[in-house]
Amino acid sequence: MTIHDLDTPALVVDLDIMERNLRRMAEYAAQHNLRLRPHTKTHKIPALGAMQVALGAVGLTVAKSTEAEVMVNSGTPDLLIAYPVLGVKKLERIKALTKRVKITVSVDSVEVAQHLADAGLEVGVLAETDAGLGRVGVEPGQPLVDLAKAISAMPGLTFEGIAFYPGHIKSTDAAGMTALSNLGDLLTSIRAQLTQADIEARIFSGGSTPTMWHSHEVAGLNEIRPGTYIFNDRNTVFSGACQVEDCAASILCTVVSTSVKDQFIIDGGSKTFSSDLAKQPGHGWVVKYPEALFAKMNEEHGYVSMAGAKSSVKIGERVRVIPNHICVAVNLHEKVYGVRGETVEVVWSVDGRGKLQ
Ligand SMILES: Cc1ncc(COP(=O)(O)O)c(C=O)c1O
Repeated sequence: MTIHDLDTPALVVDLDIMERNLRRMAEYAAQHNLRLRPHTKTHKIPALGAMQVALGAVGLTVAKSTEAEVMVNSGTPDLLIAYPVLGVKKLERIKALTKRVKITVSVDSVEVAQHLADAGLEVGVLAETDAGLGRVGVEPGQPLVDLAKAISAMPGLTFEGIAFYPGHIKSTDAAGMTALSNLGDLLTSIRAQLTQADIEARIFSGGSTPTMWHSHEVAGLNEIRPGTYIFNDRNTVFSGACQVEDCAASILCTVVSTSVKDQFIIDGGSKTFSSDLAKQPGHGWVVKYPEALFAKMNEEHGYVSMAGAKSSVKIGERVRVIPNHICVAVNLHEKVYGVRGETVEVVWSVDGRGKLQ
């Protein structure tokens, strides 16, 4: 099968680029002695998780217990659920999984830790701190020390270290580098406070795609969980962490209308791309027409503005579009087509899509 045989819209992944992204990250982590636990929220495909593990990842990360049920099929020896787990059904799922794989959960409250312990779970636990994003995580300082102490005292739970998500640092310009340096200072002071309280923290887990190549400069960080790096997207390019040539995933669309002057319509809208925005206007890059602006979307229609579109762009023509945010786009697709050149080499079912619980 070739790319021309695919019905559109279709999410295609350039395998050469994806494999290069995977290798680069694995080599970077190994070179700097960083544990790599990639977040699988980007690809949601066990076969890709297996590739990450084969390249040296110590384990994989998920957000949800149902995602964990899918990702265990990658054969990973270790799964981190980087989300506060609350609810009896979720605990039942996790308990069953602990018979197949080592599970670690990040928690930011004594309540959630107690919930895990009361269910008789035997899991590793990372205490989550807020390093500046303001989403989850207790304040660094005494609240974090208290949480770590409480976790250490609970039966079944093994305190393994600290987790945080530096999602507020979106670039490595001067402001981004200052934020990374401050983060290093914060981790250093957290380690000192834990040592003083006689608590051993083996893991300091953070790290995301926008700042991935500077992870080794963050003092005290010893585990990274990048997700987007496997494919990259328009946002990753804007963050400065990759070039357009490093974007492995795009959505193959067909031009279905050129009726309106200076515009063409593609057969993918918000149901295909998601409505996530980027730093600059546009819902994606039309690779073939860099001068075009993917200006607007309805559910099934993508509006692409381009002067002279009516004469130069033909109905039935196919274009590849790099989305703003690939993780949510993958969640909208049943299948991902892995291509090498024009050949469709592999078709993956996105087993982890729609796993919300
Ligand atoms: C807790 C957590 N860790 C890691 C990641 C991976 O971040 P990125 O996709 O930027 O690499 C995310 C992304 O949302 C996250 O929420």
